[in-house]
Amino acid sequence: MKEQLQALESEALAKVETASSLQELQGVRVAYLGKKGPITEVLRGMGKLSAEERPVIGELANKVRGNIAAAIDEKKAGIEAEQLEKQLEEEQIDVTLPGRPVAVGGPHLLTSIVEEIEDLFIGLGFEIREGPEVETDYFNFEALNLPKGHPARDMQDSFYITEDLLLRTHTSPVQARTMNAMENKQPVKMICPGKVYRRDTDDATHSHQFTQIEGLYVDKNVRMSDLKGVLDRFAKHMFGEDREIRLRPSFFPFTEPSVEMDISCKMCNGKGCSVCKRTGWIEILGAGMVHPRVLEMAGYDPKVYSGFAFGMGPERIAMLKYGVDDIRHFYTNDLRFLKQYHKA
Ligand code: DAH
Repeated sequence: MKEQLQALESEALAKVETASSLQELQGVRVAYLGKKGPITEVLRGMGKLSAEERPVIGELANKVRGNIAAAIDEKKAGIEAEQLEKQLEEEQIDVTLPGRPVAVGGPHLLTSIVEEIEDLFIGLGFEIREGPEVETDYFNFEALNLPKGHPARDMQDSFYITEDLLLRTHTSPVQARTMNAMENKQPVKMICPGKVYRRDTDDATHSHQFTQIEGLYVDKNVRMSDLKGVLDRFAKHMFGEDREIRLRPSFFPFTEPSVEMDISCKMCNGKGCSVCKRTGWIEILGAGMVHPRVLEMAGYDPKVYSGFAFGMGPERIAMLKYGVDDIRHFYTNDLRFLKQYHKA
């Protein structure tokens, strides 16, 4: 029995030695130390032994079992360490590799221009107002002194939704809305940026949807020189301190008198070139003194209050400022175009 145990021991130790995986090792453990294993078998047959032999064999059997178990544990630790080593080797991170750049977006050119204009006017004490893009005929036309059948309505081909509702053709209705909503008819000083819609065929200079910024200042004693001062500041802020402005008589039903503002051409410094069509001047916006009828309809007494208003197209301003040659660039959103205007 002693030889049998010793033979089992060396057989088991040899198998432990050659085991190359944890699975294989577990197989050895089950085979030799398990309940149905040969050592258990030996111990079971101990009853047949003599009283002197029994403790000797018992001790040996326990020793053999302990040796095999210790060998298995040692081998297991070895295999695990090897596996960890291999894993660390395979999953090595090279911290010196350059990182992958994260793509960062930036504001759309049109957004930047609108915000730049907003910042200037906020600095001059104007508030930012908004109005609905689906507008009533009343605010889009009537309240701006454009009654039904007025020939000036032909200037703006509109997207009608019903007979009385349309997509606003300009941001001017926000003038009327703001004055109308003002309790106790306090002074108003606001600008309103927003989308407007016209039934134009899209080309390099026309878009059926574009942006406008409306301005309105109503108070006691607002004069045309105030308008000129504000517009001059605006032109210099956007196009450079060396720009000059010129007001030309014009017509809008909601202002009297009405003007159009030009700035001196930056390309030729007023000498005349292809950009300014040889005139030395570039048209920028429409403006004027708020028509007494418009004030009256909104509840302001035109004998007490006066005001100025202006309306401009940020696309046109961006096009002139950055030399963009086609209004459709603002809407086709080609990243190659847009990225040129992202500030670092
Ligand atoms: N609403 C005009 C347009 O869309 C622009 C405009 C001109 C607005 C003169 C004004 C203004 O407030 O005074 O063409």
